[in-house]
Amino acid sequence: MLPFLTEDWGNPSSLYAFGQKARESLEESRKTVARLLGAKSPKEIYFTSCGTESDNQALVSCARAGARKGKKHLISTRFEHHAVLHTLKALQREGFEVTLLDVHEDGVVRAEDLERALRPDTCCVSVMFANNEVGTLQPVAEIGALCREKAIPFHCDAVQAVGHVPVDVEAMNIDLLSLSGHKFHAPKGVGVLYCRKNIPLYSFLEGGAQERGKRAGTENVAGAAALAAALEESCARMGENAEKVIAMRDRLIEGLGKIPHSRLNGSLTSRVPGTVNICFEGVEGETLLLYLDREGICASSGSACASGSLDPSHVLLSLGVPHELARGSLRLSVGEFNSMEEIDHILEVVPRAVRELRSLSPLWAELESGRKPHLC
Ligand SMILES: Cc1ncc(COP(=O)(O)O)c(C=O)c1O
Repeated sequence: MLPFLTEDWGNPSSLYAFGQKARESLEESRKTVARLLGAKSPKEIYFTSCGTESDNQALVSCARAGARKGKKHLISTRFEHHAVLHTLKALQREGFEVTLLDVHEDGVVRAEDLERALRPDTCCVSVMFANNEVGTLQPVAEIGALCREKAIPFHCDAVQAVGHVPVDVEAMNIDLLSLSGHKFHAPKGVGVLYCRKNIPLYSFLEGGAQERGKRAGTENVAGAAALAAALEESCARMGENAEKVIAMRDRLIEGLGKIPHSRLNGSLTSRVPGTVNICFEGVEGETLLLYLDREGICASSGSACASGSLDPSHVLLSLGVPHELARGSLRLSVGEFNSMEEIDHILEVVPRAVRELRSLSPLWAELESGRKPHLC
């Protein structure tokens, strides 16, 4: 990345040699990403600014192409990222019909449920590869096979999966795939949309002919180089990283699971290596986060506190976690650069935090007195 910020900073659309160096780098990055995703051709790789942009462009493209054939029904799931859910809402306002599949208690959607929801006018199926809050993996290959059989375009938001678990667009019959560089240590501000040849892709932006006319605007050459390099490294070390991360994650799950009245969210087996999501009864997620921050622990909760709302996460609710319990959720993401010492620090701090916060909680007092039943 650095040479394209400091020395070779030419514009890839320029004809002079300086710009052509940037062009060569961009095309090299495209080839690398295509190879690592199992794509047939680098021409199926479009650089975008983020996962959100890729999701938006994928869904809107499928919807527009569908509408031209009189097909205006899209299928997705209740626990997608808002980049997908809000785009679907916008399409509904334009007259498209949307079916959101239920998620089972283990945080996994079922291909049989999808099969039942398919209609002759379905123009797109969009199911995420791995959920961003609970980390559960979805039956992507099964869904891909089903969609291929019915010739329905299948979009997969693989933002949480790429670089962490094997992803192969050909083998899994994925027609469109979104990814985001910063999820595997590239800088923020660069993403990719994979779009299979023959699937129509519509451009959002009016302007130049960059990205074969599908994404106008001068390309983020340094970002694309960084994304390709980071993906190459993540894929090369996937097995080794997963082993290290899973050992830390399992220690976390085991240790935090000992806290009374706690509940791990999502399947224990079908999940990405690094995500742990656990609810503590009688604890407010945001308060817990502030406590942990003071102890140097960067965690998140399911609820959308940043948006000014204390509503519990739509993801946890979709798994059937009761409202009150979902408000006490903690999400920890472990990466290969973490250490067992950090895990032990978390295991020392979280039980203390939960104990102290419960001792101040009127809800906990009610639960302990038996006036309210425990939920877990
Ligand atoms: C599953 C999923 N989809 C989409 C996005 C959006 O990606 P970005 O922040 O790059 O726009 C995220 C971000 O965390 C995500 O986890």
